[in-house]
Amino acid sequence: MQKITPLVKMVDIEKNFGAVQALKKVNVEVQPGEILGLLGDNGAGKSTLIKILAGVFPPDAGEIFFEGKQVNFLSPKDARASGIETVHQALSLVNVMSISRNFFLGREPTKKIGPVNLLDRKKMDEECKKAVTGLGVRVRSPHEFVSILSGGERQAISIGRAMHFKVKLLILDEPLTALSVRETKEVLRQVEKAKESGVSVIFITHNVYHVYPVAERFVMLDKGIKIGEVYKKDASPEDIIEIIATGKMPQELKS
Ligand SMILES: Nc1ncnc2c1ncn2[C@@H]1O[C@H](COP(=O)(O)OP(=O)(O)OP(=O)(O)O)[C@@H](O)[C@H]1O
Ligand SMILES: [Mg+2]
Repeated sequence: MQKITPLVKMVDIEKNFGAVQALKKVNVEVQPGEILGLLGDNGAGKSTLIKILAGVFPPDAGEIFFEGKQVNFLSPKDARASGIETVHQALSLVNVMSISRNFFLGREPTKKIGPVNLLDRKKMDEECKKAVTGLGVRVRSPHEFVSILSGGERQAISIGRAMHFKVKLLILDEPLTALSVRETKEVLRQVEKAKESGVSVIFITHNVYHVYPVAERFVMLDKGIKIGEVYKKDASPEDIIEIIATGKMPQELKS
């Protein structure tokens, strides 16, 4: 079988916070166009792992390859420039800014008036409205502050932003926390849309039932250690819950 280069390959990643070993020699791959569920209880190391991938902080040890090339992201900006967009657990939208400002955050189109570069607000509003409406979110106006949006609408804008800028990898850290049933459905629909457009997704949650319908593979972490990984075809949600609860892979699922 021909071997496809993984989009992401994290090798022997280690991270300590003082005496806390948050990650111990963790190995994770993400394939092109794949939705990977990253699961584990509180404090398992999920957010730490993806923060390393997103350039928030470096690992203490280990290597990261993106599209087959070794990378060393020194900031979230570096990771973003390579095509990695992260929606962090504490949502990365700025409450006191308008929807369209949030949509472009750091990527604002500008227009030159004489010697100065000004934000092209008209273009921002038009593009933002088009992209967000295309995702099925009704925004009354791109000028409204993000603080008035519901949790689901905020997630939609974050995911929409990632898709609009044609990212290669979308990382969602607990995107469904505090969302209603309807909003949850909507966000899951958008994750599927992202996948259809060829984007790989790392979807972090402690609720396997949230990610099971959309992901094809699952990696389980426990206290900084990777317990194992399974394909959806080989394990039910209940099998995965059992793996997380016991911290062990059943013999028949070990590869
Ligand atoms: N910036 C930090 N400083 C000190 N300790 C940290 C820091 N970030 C994480 N930790 C510790 O590292 C461990 C892993 O935390 P992490 O946030 O990665 O877990 P998680 O799997 O995302 O948990 P949750 O499901 O609660 O979000 C925890 O023991 C946590 O207290
Ligand atoms: Mg977390």
